[in-house]
Amino acid sequence: MTDLSQLRDWRFSVDKQAIAWATFDREGESQNSLGRRPLEELGLIVEHVEELAKTKAVRGLVIQSGKEKGFIVGADVREFETITSEQQVIENVGTVNALLDRIEKLPVPVVCCIHGFCLGGGLELALACHWRIATRDEATRLGFPEVKLGIFPGFNGTARSLRQAGALGAMPIMLTGSMLRAGAAKGLNLVDELVPGPLNLPWAARRAIDKGRRSKPIGGWKGLLRRWPARGYLAGKMRAQTKAKVREEHYPAPFRLIDLFETHGGNLEGMKKAETRAFAPLMLGDTSRNLRRVFKLSEIMKAQAPKGLAWKPLRVHVIGAGVMGADIAGFCVANGMEVSLQDLNAEQITKGIDAQKKLLSRKFKTKAARDAAKARFIADPTGEHITRADIVIEAIVEKLEVKQALFKSIEGKLKPGAVMATNTSSIMIEKIAEPLADPGRLIGVHFFNPVAQMPLVEIIKSAGTREEEVQKGCAFVTAIGKFPLIVKSSPGFLVNRVLGPYMMAALQRVEAGEPKEKIDEAARTFGMPMGPVELADTVGLDVCAHVGKILAAGSGAALPPSAAKLDAMVASGKLGKKSGEGFYVWKDGKPQRSEPAHPYDRFELERLGRDLVDPLIKEARKVLEEGVVENADLVDGGVIFGTGFAPFRGGPLHFATNESKVVTMPRRVAAE
Ligand code: NAI
Repeated sequence: MTDLSQLRDWRFSVDKQAIAWATFDREGESQNSLGRRPLEELGLIVEHVEELAKTKAVRGLVIQSGKEKGFIVGADVREFETITSEQQVIENVGTVNALLDRIEKLPVPVVCCIHGFCLGGGLELALACHWRIATRDEATRLGFPEVKLGIFPGFNGTARSLRQAGALGAMPIMLTGSMLRAGAAKGLNLVDELVPGPLNLPWAARRAIDKGRRSKPIGGWKGLLRRWPARGYLAGKMRAQTKAKVREEHYPAPFRLIDLFETHGGNLEGMKKAETRAFAPLMLGDTSRNLRRVFKLSEIMKAQAPKGLAWKPLRVHVIGAGVMGADIAGFCVANGMEVSLQDLNAEQITKGIDAQKKLLSRKFKTKAARDAAKARFIADPTGEHITRADIVIEAIVEKLEVKQALFKSIEGKLKPGAVMATNTSSIMIEKIAEPLADPGRLIGVHFFNPVAQMPLVEIIKSAGTREEEVQKGCAFVTAIGKFPLIVKSSPGFLVNRVLGPYMMAALQRVEAGEPKEKIDEAARTFGMPMGPVELADTVGLDVCAHVGKILAAGSGAALPPSAAKLDAMVASGKLGKKSGEGFYVWKDGKPQRSEPAHPYDRFELERLGRDLVDPLIKEARKVLEEGVVENADLVDGGVIFGTGFAPFRGGPLHFATNESKVVTMPRRVAAE
């Protein structure tokens, strides 16, 4: 008999009704991930159940999580880094796949109970079970986020999800990495049964075993779409849709997944083997390595928020209901906080709150949740709620004296321990704090526009800022699901400082007669989300001109020649996207681009793209040398999450250090 007395990541028991319960509760970790040891232990459990099933000592197996908050978040990404050859990938993945096959072939019903996150490898394990029960809870989410790490499901999840959900159900979730609520997953046949909450799971699992339930593959016309020629047609459509979003040379994984489906989607057993062959080179490729690095950077940034802090941000007071203040307030409400919003102008508050409706209805799907969010969002023209707030964020006009006067007038009203923060984009924190009784209390909490989309928030500290306040700032930012980055108070902080020279140099090229369309295309070819000229128009040329002056004053350098051109454009009312014209003419929120007479030469674009980001890389190095940000990883993380710098390149400093290395492009899957 297999000895299960030494299990560390799983608990195993067989109850009086001969049902075996395997409970995954990874030792020393807050979440379950499928690493080497948990998988080896699961192997022992399966072996034991196989033995017990022979003598009918077990008549069913339930796989569940022992964590309060989640099922399984996926494979253990940390262990990926120890793998260095395709052969190793194939061997490791092969062992897991053999285990999942054994689970699928168990002679007794195997039921999977899902509450909370069931992602990646977790969903692949669930798909190898015979019956899946999920809670309808808001916290339950199922999906395949692999593509965000430059790979696709490698534990035979491609074939099993196709079997269950068909091409129209399975391919989009694998291609986009989007997460499904339990109801949607049931609609796709990825889940068989829903229960209200985690307490209902054991009973439902027992009943499923009593009834010998077995999930059925998707049938009807949806199942037929895996056949040729429908498969070829669908693959073509998916390829076109994916191309509209990402470039194959930057993000090969979704394209290889479509190849896999097109070539092997008609034969799921063959697809399982081909999946491993196609998966291995992706996992070792530069894109996946760098995207894993980006994931690691996000974890490092979140870890800047100390654990176990007694201070908890529940109530936020925002002053200034303009572009930034209203969006910051709305985002905090969307993340469960109670928020009061203040402005000199009461109408502005109403407008600001109304503008958040879209975000809140996207976030909260039930009327009850939307009503609760509405109740948490308070218009506060007189600032009554300042005294109750755990954090007060100022987002009023960018004028030193006005900000100073405001903070002086509210300083005495804040409750002890409450954080006092400014969203200033360019004024030194120590300057704003100068007239305060306690200047060490003020921190910068610098959000980026658009607030809901930009993952980074810079936490600005001056030499006099108390460390405790900085820590609370980081805790607040992680509590609303963003990544904090601690930055020393210095001109442009990190993000605007590195963007400034990059954009100014690009505008200088436009001044010198290079076509703006070509410049922007070259930056996109490098992997930037938008070109620098389009970015300048989007940010607003008035803002660019202002930031340019702050940066020049801060570094003592003369203003770049493009600054005069910017000033002239601003003076003539050309502010960019917001005024309808800047460098581009804007129609329906889109820049009107002229087509080039001849297609651009790809190599020229690549070279130009590299030249364009050079000023950004140089400035990032200076930021590091000057100690504005603590280390190179944090500089890279800040630039990626604050500017969208080509994530698949791993960050400006990482890219510059590694660019001389040979780039290996993952191969296409061999044809059938
Ligand atoms: P905005 O001009 O859209 O809004 C400012 C709001 O503050 C107005 O509604 C105004 O009525 C109100 N206000 C002015 N003085 C006030 C006072 N004493 N008490 C209460 N309300 C007052 O400005 P925006 O763009 O939202 O900027 C706000 C702050 O955020 C500035 O410090 C800016 O530098 C910073 N910021 C702006 C970004 C952007 O993209 N717009 C990005 C990041 C930071």
